[in-house]
Amino acid sequence: PKVAIIGVPMDLGADRRGVDMGPSAIRCACLEQRLTGIGYQVFDQGDLVVRRKPHVQTGGGLQQQAAQNANLKYLDETAKVNEELYDLVNETMAQGLFPLVLGGDHSIAIGTLAAVRQHHASIGVIWFDSHGDVNTAQTSPSGNIHGMSLAVALGYGHPKLTAIGGTHPKVKPEHVAIIGARCLDPGERVFLKQHGIQVWTMHEIDRLGMARVMEQAIDRVTKGTSGVHLSLDLDGLDPIYAPGVGTPVPSGISARESYLAMELLSEAGVLVSAEAVEVNPILDHHNQTAKVAVSLIASLFGERIL
Ligand code: ARG
Ligand code: MN
Ligand code: MN
Ligand code: MN
Repeated sequence: PKVAIIGVPMDLGADRRGVDMGPSAIRCACLEQRLTGIGYQVFDQGDLVVRRKPHVQTGGGLQQQAAQNANLKYLDETAKVNEELYDLVNETMAQGLFPLVLGGDHSIAIGTLAAVRQHHASIGVIWFDSHGDVNTAQTSPSGNIHGMSLAVALGYGHPKLTAIGGTHPKVKPEHVAIIGARCLDPGERVFLKQHGIQVWTMHEIDRLGMARVMEQAIDRVTKGTSGVHLSLDLDGLDPIYAPGVGTPVPSGISARESYLAMELLSEAGVLVSAEAVEVNPILDHHNQTAKVAVSLIASLFGERIL
């Protein structure tokens, strides 16, 4: 089996600086060696080029994109990077490689999902996250596009984003499973309810246990789909295990529950693509979060204790 690693050092979709270093941190945590160890052939495609945010407010260039479009910060640059990501993931899959995308902030799910949809008429999505990421410019409290990427994949959002890879929605609401949610904005609650998107919050994880949650979620996302995409936002984990994330939210999923989730998804044999996002080395301790990300990815790809 062949895996393509694609880095997207993107931080325009988030307020906190630092997630642009995610791909480096994850590579430094020996991702390639771990995958090779399981028996995969790894093709690292390197990183896409993303314009860096200025450290100082200059009022020019990129900064203007954020200011002009306060409800959709850095819209043009974010759309451009996602177009490029779409192309690269598309090519990768056409060559028969499994795309593993490293973020970067969660806005990059827009390009990834658009490409995966080119290869599967109907895709299931496991959205592992403390957030819902179903805001639109109308409901977003921040204007940050990383909080909108799932809505965009469902077909809601600015046309510059929803049109990437074609204007059709890339995923159907009934094929989405959000796991680990504990921080939703008021407009997101309305959106999730309106569209009948199933959310396994921390309440369900505590109550049912991760094994049953994953059983139910996998059931949901595989009904009527030909492949499943994992969107792994590291802030789904409790900050005790993953402190190096852009927007940490307490009382989250434990490391053990997360490994179990990856193992069950791996055993289901339905995965066609994956991304790991929101790793922020600036806020991390000794690259702990990237190391957890790599171990989770290894579990996802079949690494086992025995
Ligand atoms: N809901 C908040 C917002 O829209 C936070 C989103 C955080 N998203 C993420 N991918 N970490 O700004
Ligand atoms: Mn997210
Ligand atoms: Mn999140
Ligand atoms: Mn330390």
